[in-house]
Amino acid sequence: MSTAVHSAAAPYIIHQDYVAYTEEQHSVWAELVGRVLPELERHAAREYLEGLEIIGLRRERLPELAAISARLAPRTGWSSTPVSGFLPAPAFFEMLATRRFPTTTWLRKRDSLEYTPEPDIFHDVFGHVPMHAHVVFADFLEHYGRVCASVTDGGVLEKLGRLFWYTVEFGVIRQKGEIKVYGSGLISSHGECMNVIGGHCAIHDFRLDEVVNTPVKVDELHKLLFAVSSFDEIYDAMHEAERRALRNEL
Ligand SMILES: [Fe+2]
Repeated sequence: MSTAVHSAAAPYIIHQDYVAYTEEQHSVWAELVGRVLPELERHAAREYLEGLEIIGLRRERLPELAAISARLAPRTGWSSTPVSGFLPAPAFFEMLATRRFPTTTWLRKRDSLEYTPEPDIFHDVFGHVPMHAHVVFADFLEHYGRVCASVTDGGVLEKLGRLFWYTVEFGVIRQKGEIKVYGSGLISSHGECMNVIGGHCAIHDFRLDEVVNTPVKVDELHKLLFAVSSFDEIYDAMHEAERRALRNEL
């Protein structure tokens, strides 16, 4: 009889074939980074920019996930783990709960620099992974995965999905009186970032009730996002969400 622990994620974990990337792909990566980095140096959260340094991303070459994970490990224990593509929810939550960020290895082509319908390595690594170097954010994300992995109610999962969307994907933070971006969807999209920085999107103070009751729209630029004043707020919000979910009050 097998004593192996069932893993929902295992079938999706792959090896990143780094030497298979072409010079054209490295050059597309360099262009993607080059076109957003100047605006991010002014408009991204301090913690994101620090994370970018910590994980040692290079502007001109695609990232090697094993090297990034080796830099993250001593800091927060997170890894950037290569996966074959879109993950079903149980596999996704299992990976977050064990501090492995499911990371796609494909890169968009030059004719779709601004937008891809599914996340690619630029969105996943450049957009997400720098924040995994931040201790509080790292704890929040693991806790998010653990809670979601134990929830079976679809309505509760949808609300928790909104919490993820308005933080991890499209989160903003107030720093020194200015709105700064840290969500990967803002970091990795010039259009989404400028929509916020240009003042075309309302910013409410982050409140768990409003966040989990604001439906996600994926087909238009955001008209409303939520600003924290520190990353402790999303950490605390996740614990509050867990308490409410356990009481059926989310
Ligand atoms: Fe994402």
